Amino acid sequence: MTTKIFCDIAELDQIKKFNKKKIVKGFTTNPSLMRKAGAKNYSNYCKEILKITRKPISFEVFADDSKNIINQALKIKRWGKNIYVKIPVTNSKGVFLGKVINKLNNDNIKLNITAVYTAKQTSQILNKVNKKTKLIISIFAGRMADKGKDPVPEIKKSIKLAKKFKNVEILWASTREPYNYIQAKKLGCHIITTPPLIIEKIEKFGKSFSNLTIDTVKGFLIDSRKSKFKI
Ligand code: E4P
Repeated sequence: MTTKIFCDIAELDQIKKFNKKKIVKGFTTNPSLMRKAGAKNYSNYCKEILKITRKPISFEVFADDSKNIINQALKIKRWGKNIYVKIPVTNSKGVFLGKVINKLNNDNIKLNITAVYTAKQTSQILNKVNKKTKLIISIFAGRMADKGKDPVPEIKKSIKLAKKFKNVEILWASTREPYNYIQAKKLGCHIITTPPLIIEKIEKFGKSFSNLTIDTVKGFLIDSRKSKFKI
């Protein structure tokens, strides 16, 4: 099984650049990435992105109550066929959004359930969805690791739970380093989403250890010469 690489980005010029790459099979965004990219009008900005790519792309809702989340999801879905509507697994108070997920999934809307950390949450989500409408479950590996937690066991269990669902893909989100791609592949993740810089590093995988040593030593040498170090 291959692990598809998605690009986690909202800058228009970057989306243009990475959309051309064969290795990039889709995109993920979130409200923080949109803000960082300078988006002012959310809907118009998403529509600009949709002019650039036909690859699968996730746009997130940002309402915090079920009624408005559903309204936003229904609007977002109408903007294009390649859209996965990103719904957080809980609202900001930690209340599981099972009913919302169930309704939108039964309305045949492709969803990307985000901010997932545990296999228990994966199981709760799977209890609410059918076996035909496409759904991504995004597990935030990097944010777990940032807090000293190993993401691998939770992702492993989630993949096992999702096996019975041919329509469900487990996505390694919150990628921190190129090696996460190897980890995601080993686990059998369907997708990994990574920032552009990491994709560029993945493209250059394959250097031998001896070449790595030479490059490393060269780098130190060049810097010490630039600084005219003397002992
Ligand atoms: C996933 O879809 C998210 O946008 C993303 O991976 C979050 O990553 P971060 O933890 O680096 O913000």
